Amino acid sequence: MKPIEIAEGIFSVGVIDWNIRDFHGYSTYEGTTYNAYLIMDKKITLIDTVKKEFTGELFDNISQIVDPKKIDYVVSNHTEMDHSGGLPIFMHRIGEDKPLYCSKMGHKNLSLHFPQKWNYQPVENGGELNLGKRTLTFLETRMLHWPDSMFTYLNNEKILFSSDGFGQHYAGPESFDDQVGDAIMPHAKKYFANILLLYSPLILKLVEKVTEMELEIDMICPDHGIIWRKDPSKIINAYVEWSRQEPKRKALVIYDTMWHSTQSMAEAIVATLIEEGVEAKPMHLRNCHRSDIMTEVLDAGAIIIGSPTLNNGLFPTVSDFLTYMKGLKPQNKVAAAFGSYGWSGEAVKLINNELEQMKFDLIDPGLRLQYVPDIKGLNACQELGKMIAGALPER
Ligand code: FEO
Repeated sequence: MKPIEIAEGIFSVGVIDWNIRDFHGYSTYEGTTYNAYLIMDKKITLIDTVKKEFTGELFDNISQIVDPKKIDYVVSNHTEMDHSGGLPIFMHRIGEDKPLYCSKMGHKNLSLHFPQKWNYQPVENGGELNLGKRTLTFLETRMLHWPDSMFTYLNNEKILFSSDGFGQHYAGPESFDDQVGDAIMPHAKKYFANILLLYSPLILKLVEKVTEMELEIDMICPDHGIIWRKDPSKIINAYVEWSRQEPKRKALVIYDTMWHSTQSMAEAIVATLIEEGVEAKPMHLRNCHRSDIMTEVLDAGAIIIGSPTLNNGLFPTVSDFLTYMKGLKPQNKVAAAFGSYGWSGEAVKLINNELEQMKFDLIDPGLRLQYVPDIKGLNACQELGKMIAGALPER
């Protein structure tokens, strides 16, 4: 990626990772980017670095603008190694004594990642740094999504460097929202559902705080994906909507199957839901990636989980998904469990336990059918589908 001047004297100097397809368990079918930003002022400043293996490319990009050794300040908005992995090589080459600005938790967490005794300059929430013509303001965004996370706001150009916030795992020829259009929104939604969902209450508070501060934002520069310059409010409004997690008349039937019996049950439930005017779909756990399912979970009003009983327990993919979903803490769901079994049939009870722990509203004790569903069994699936439809909002 060549450096791009996003405003006068401000450059996007990050890199494209075209090949990544699995980002710690999140499917990235279109790769991602690790964005970094260079501000050319009296004090030349770099905001964030990149994943370790791309550090050379970051240097090449910066070198097209200025000798990297002339960088005066480095800002680390976030410790996770897709943004800090390049720091050891970078600091070594530009000078280990260069000031490194980060949050207090950033100082702690960077020190727990890297043994180097860098010239840390921990900043307070609201702290400022004068660069010459411009001033940076640091905004703590603790737990969005790590304890160290912060945003950096460039007062003069009204640019918010938002770390992971408002990002998308997307790699393409475009750099800005107006170049991609609405096609970027599913990527942003997937990112939110899989990285930020559990912090929804904090996001709503943050947006409230930013509104109270009357912070004008002309551009949002995240650390992944495209920059929001045409309409930054579009992604802020989407975050508010997603954080509220208002349930739609939408149901997901998420399941796995051994000999198609649990699959038959899933398909019978889905067919009834559709007849009842619900946006419903079956999601087979060996054909749909967990991160794609979570994107659908975000605005679904009903989550129905199906598993055969295998060795007195859950089918492994069902356990995997329940663990993943529980960690992301989706809210405002009605739920039910179902599954075929041979002789012991523990799966439904085990699913119910998990759904209760997630504070979902269990609307049925669960439907267990022995071996292959007969007409009576399929009728019971239809009844379950009707019950779920009845529990969903009308819209
Ligand atoms: Fe893009 Fe939390 O790292």
